[in-house]
Amino acid sequence: MMQTTAVFEPTGSTSTLPQIIQGGMGVGISHWGLARAVSGVGQLGIVSCTGIDNVLVRRLQDGDSGGHVRRALAAYPNQERVEKVLRMYFLPAGREPGQAYRRVPLPTVTKHGAAWELGVMGSFVEVFLAREGHDNPVGVNLLTKLQLHTVPALYGSMLAGADVVIMGAGIPREIPGVLDAFAAGGPASIKLDVKGGDAVTLTFDPAEYGLERRELKRPKFYPIVTSHILAGVLMKKASGSVEGFVIEGPTAGGHNAPPRGQPTFDEIGQPVYGERDIADLDEMKKLGLPFWLAGSRATPEALAEALERGAAGIQVGTLFAYCADSGLRDDLRQRVHGLTKEGGVDVYTDPLASPTGFPFKVVQVDGTLARPELYAERPRVCDIGYLREAYAGEDGKTGLRCAAEPVDAYVSKGGKVEDTVGRKCLCNALMTDAGYAQVQKGGYVEDSLITSGDSLNDIAAWPRGYRAEDVVEYLLGRYQPGA
Ligand SMILES: Cc1cc2nc3c(=O)[nH]c(=O)nc-3n(C[C@H](O)[C@H](O)[C@H](O)COP(=O)(O)O)c2cc1C
Repeated sequence: MMQTTAVFEPTGSTSTLPQIIQGGMGVGISHWGLARAVSGVGQLGIVSCTGIDNVLVRRLQDGDSGGHVRRALAAYPNQERVEKVLRMYFLPAGREPGQAYRRVPLPTVTKHGAAWELGVMGSFVEVFLAREGHDNPVGVNLLTKLQLHTVPALYGSMLAGADVVIMGAGIPREIPGVLDAFAAGGPASIKLDVKGGDAVTLTFDPAEYGLERRELKRPKFYPIVTSHILAGVLMKKASGSVEGFVIEGPTAGGHNAPPRGQPTFDEIGQPVYGERDIADLDEMKKLGLPFWLAGSRATPEALAEALERGAAGIQVGTLFAYCADSGLRDDLRQRVHGLTKEGGVDVYTDPLASPTGFPFKVVQVDGTLARPELYAERPRVCDIGYLREAYAGEDGKTGLRCAAEPVDAYVSKGGKVEDTVGRKCLCNALMTDAGYAQVQKGGYVEDSLITSGDSLNDIAAWPRGYRAEDVVEYLLGRYQPGA
């Protein structure tokens, strides 16, 4: 039996809201298998569509075991385009040992057709597969900062029938309007912010990608916010309607919002959060929309408390990330889970690691890029490019640069050398965490960098191989894990 909170919607229909949202986790950690497992038992599973173009082509180059990707692609509305992609990327027997993955062509501000088409197909596949075998809602997570990659992923998700879109890491003001435009069958645009110049408009028109302009179901939109103030602003100023919020605190895994006000750091360099970073739930309630609490909430007691304080439920990441249904590479899952049982492992809120400039939580595991000496051995290269920022060049053209790319290249694009210090290539590291490590020129195999929330060590109480369904049962108070 699924437990849900009944709400009355303005349309007059009574619908139910999940008490548990399984948080979106990129790259490929909350993949279709995890989301399907969670949605299948009546809570809300969320697929991550961050980096989904590369995830798609890498799965195909690894032989598409089980044929899942090809099964989903067989339902894609333009089979001619699918065949072209399969011809380019599908390797029935997988790659040779040491063979590099063929890359998605690095998109530029003006030339991004190939990456966008693969983004549409990748997100279509992810949502299609997560929806198989049950009739419950499935959602999609994207990072607002990745403006160059967002609109095609939204379109592909909607084409496959996504019910909810959840976005943080930036202020997703323009997204509701995009969802409305796609739902109406039209093209949609968002702005690409350009450092030192005017924003550029990016437009996705399905007709340019061999897709009929058709009306689509409009997903609900839940922005991720840290404060009731931002929630209120989004309700008033977003380009369309918002249907709820995820309120994420600074202990959550992945990227965190920076602390408000003048930043201060603790003795090991982590940003210090204070009272101003905690959302006022009484104020949230006044907004009248459902909200879920995220960040160290993965207990039945925390769920009960959230409900009592007026929330619709909780969003949980870390506990789902280490269950057997997630996309985290199995040896990494086992290693970290083992460390939690052997006395614990530290999670460091690194203010520098992410080229976005947002704090990013890093699990301190030997043999990963958390160790500076291992990162120093990595030749800097930017071959995926999701985290690049657009800048206005001296020649008046708009370029793209990443603080983790080779230092000379970054500086030649007007970037400051000091901004490159401590920056890590999350694109490649997170692909590695999901099992898609690139082999770079010269033979360097990309290494991992693992992210988790501050409550990571709570998984010590869980047996190895626990399932997503066990997590749901536990949170609903019907299962007690025993290590
Ligand atoms: C491995 C991992 C990856 C994550 N990636 C993303 C992401 O890509 N986008 C996002 O909005 N949140 C991301 N998160 C945050 C989760 O969606 C969720 O809000 C958070 O994990 C909740 O806190 P908890 O980890 O304490 O349960 C990630 C969390 C983890 C653990």
